[in-house]
Order: sequence, then structure tokens, then C-alpha cells
Amino acid sequence: MSHRLAATSNDARAKLCPAELDPVRVPAHVAVIMDGNGRWAQARGLPRVMGHRAGVEALKATLRLCSDWGVKALTAYAFSTENWSRPGDEVNFLMTLFERVLQRELQALEAEQVRIRFLGDLDALPEKLQALIADATARTANNTGIHFNVCTNYGGRRELVLAAQALATRAARGELEPSSIDENTLAAELFTAGEQDPDLLIRTSGERRISNFLLWQLAYAEIHVTDVFWPDFNREALLEALLDYQGRRRRFGGLDDLRAGALGS
Ligand code: IPE
Ligand code: IPE
Ligand code: MG
Repeated sequence: MSHRLAATSNDARAKLCPAELDPVRVPAHVAVIMDGNGRWAQARGLPRVMGHRAGVEALKATLRLCSDWGVKALTAYAFSTENWSRPGDEVNFLMTLFERVLQRELQALEAEQVRIRFLGDLDALPEKLQALIADATARTANNTGIHFNVCTNYGGRRELVLAAQALATRAARGELEPSSIDENTLAAELFTAGEQDPDLLIRTSGERRISNFLLWQLAYAEIHVTDVFWPDFNREALLEALLDYQGRRRRFGGLDDLRAGALGS
């Protein structure tokens, strides 16, 4: 039996892509800071954690839409190295939520050919969650659909410190010449090794900051900030973000085509 996403060819995918979008210029890698769960709940008179529960549904819908529209990788910020400083009850709720959602959704992820990975310092997570993560990663490792990266106990600075430690260890053992270290050597030590850099960063809830997310990898990402709280992030909000992206001119420090042409080069 072929599964829905696995069976989706490029042509079929272009048909799933909304007419407003240019299917050829859909960002290959979308990163998202899923922010505003607590405020979403509080605005409804609910405990903050209910916002986290609602946020799971928004993430599932976003993953499905990204896959349908031809995005190759979705990287979502679920728990930062700084989030441990929240009240114990909220941290415990989140860890249990991650466990429950993984157990509940793994079969569907497998069936839809999603390749899931968890990026972060995973050793600090509860053992049960670590085991579920290892199982989900192994069971989906050979899937051919969208790459779904969930940043859990992730911090951009922690990631760079761990990469520095790994490189220093290899150098001290005489396996690596320090002067041979270049951008590729360093990128290969990051949690995101093998994944191309995000093209688009979306942050919800109106905050205009990076909050220690993908500090290295976001060097040239386009940034889209929306006031929508994460649990309300839906098809319309994703479409708005992708349209915003498609309206950008990415120069990567160079000149855009028009200007280069105007100068007669
Ligand atoms: C983002 O929502 C989810 C996590 C950080 C786990 P928040 O919990 O930060 O919600 P706000 O920003 O307080 O509204
Ligand atoms: C960033 O949101 C972390 C996640 C979305 C997991 P935060 O709510 O923790 O970030 P700050 O505190 O507003 O910078
Ligand atoms: Mg927040």
C-alpha cells in the first residue's frame, strides 16, 4: 500500500500547493519558533499548559501543510535550554505531553513517510522520553518524506559549545588539524548536521527575537514574525508566511540580479 505523502510526486505536490504560491520557490527548509501558547490560554481564562496542548494540533497541521506544499524540512522549537527555568509543573506537563504525543502520533508519522529527529541535548530529558525519541528516530530514519526536526532541550549556544568540545577532542587526539577546521567541519558537528540551513524562520506571538534558536544556521534565513499565537497558527497564517518569503530578494551579501544587470556586469 502506498501512503499519501510517499505517493505524492512533484507534480501532484504542485497541485496541492495553493494557487497563490509559486511551487518552484517554496522554501526548502522552514524553521518555526512556536511561541505564545501561554498567552493563548490565558486569553481564554485557561491554565497556560492548555495552550501547549492546543499547540500540538497547530504543529500537526503545519507539518501536514508543509509536506503537501513541497517544503522538504520543518524544524520546530519545542523546548529551549532556558525553558527549564519555568515552574516545575509546567516543565513536567511539557515532558509528559512530548511523551504522549510521540506515542500517539508515531504510527501516523511512519505511515506518512515523515523522518523525525530530535535536536538538542537529549541526555537531560526524562529517560522514558529519551527511549521514545530513540525509537521514533530509528523507526522513521529511512522514510523518504519531509524531515521533521523537533528541537527539544535545544540551545544554539549549547550546540556550539558541544561542537567546540567535539572538535577540540579530535584535535587533542591528533585526529584533526586545527587550521583545517572550516565552516563545513563545524556545521557537521551541529545537531542539524546533514540538513541544509533554513530558508525561512517564522516566529509567532509577535516577539522579535531569536531566543537562542539555530544561531549558526539562521545566518541568511528570511524572518517572518506574526502576531498570531502559536495555537492559532493555521493554513492562512502559513500561507501568509510563505507569500512573504516569496516576495523577498535574497542577496546573501551580494547584489540582486536587477542591480547587477543595471551596472552592466
Ligand atoms: C511557547 O509558548 C512554547 C514553549 C516555550 C514551550 P510559551 O509557553 O512561551 O507561551 P508564552 O510566550 O508564555 O505566551
Ligand atoms: C522560545 O520561546 C522557545 C520555544 C518556543 C520553545 P520562549 O517563550 O521561551 O522565548 P522568550 O522567553 O520569549 O525569549
Ligand atoms: Mg514564550
